[in-house]
Amino acid sequence: MKRKIIAYNFVLTEVLEPLKDEYDVEFFEKINPKTDQAFINALQDAEGIIGLALPADAELLDRAPNLKIVSNNSTGYNNLSLDEMTKRGVMGTNTPGVLEGTTADAIFGILLAAARRIPEMDQFVKNGNWQHHLTTEQFAVDVHHKTLGIIGMGKIGSEIAKRGHCGFDMNILYHNRSRNIEAEEKYHAEYCDLDNLLKKSDFVLLMTPLTQETENLIGEREFKLMKNSAIFVNGSRGKTVDEAALIEALKNNEIYGAALDVYQIEPVKMNNPLLQFPNVVTTPHLGSATFETEEKMAKLAMENLLDGLNGKRPKNLVNP
Ligand code: DGY
Repeated sequence: MKRKIIAYNFVLTEVLEPLKDEYDVEFFEKINPKTDQAFINALQDAEGIIGLALPADAELLDRAPNLKIVSNNSTGYNNLSLDEMTKRGVMGTNTPGVLEGTTADAIFGILLAAARRIPEMDQFVKNGNWQHHLTTEQFAVDVHHKTLGIIGMGKIGSEIAKRGHCGFDMNILYHNRSRNIEAEEKYHAEYCDLDNLLKKSDFVLLMTPLTQETENLIGEREFKLMKNSAIFVNGSRGKTVDEAALIEALKNNEIYGAALDVYQIEPVKMNNPLLQFPNVVTTPHLGSATFETEEKMAKLAMENLLDGLNGKRPKNLVNP
């Protein structure tokens, strides 16, 4: 009998094609993993799971007694309850090292789009409103030579600092669990406590992973510390921000605007008030979503999966 693998929300199905001689690969997408009976049945025999954002919590793990590994097709792994997994001898892995530049491009892109009001101006032209020279109504704000405050100076944060410093002559401030000496040397990034970063930055960019410490890291108090002219950019996870506080900050003009790639609930609900602000630029959690990078991530996730299934220590193990 073939060994069972579950592929959950795994888009590049062809990457898994070579596994099919040896493994029985069951694909699931657009299901509720807590209630979908076919998925729950598959868990019983599954030795490996590969995919995106599956909540691997105690309930799921109890339903999967043969599981050896959950291979995340993402660099973030806040969906993995690592303590519960480790207790049961289940490995967790992620896909770092292949998506940093791509994600930095996207997040810097929405920063630029918010500052220069590109989506709004796109609609202005397409709706036939470009009838005369622009007036102050259409003016925006500069990016170059401004201060970019990066919260979470890991690999993606550093790539964003590179774009800001080398491409746009920006002054880089950062806040992180530990000092990033390379970013300090290469991009003249200056380490800063959180409050000072919030007070001094023209762009406050959140790139931290979601952990117990970073959940709701940015709320009412933090928005009030930001400049009224600041643009807030979230490229991390939606739950690092108190969305209600962000809505209030936008309503009260406490900040100039926001650029959001992530939400507390994804896909974002159409009744989320954040979608109503013209000064909020938004994208559907697309940081790594290019053909080139998604293929690299899928292949890396598959390598991690196979190592785990074959009793080897996967390269990107994240269990403590
Ligand atoms: C990641 O890799 O963590 C991206 O945010 C996609 O989930």
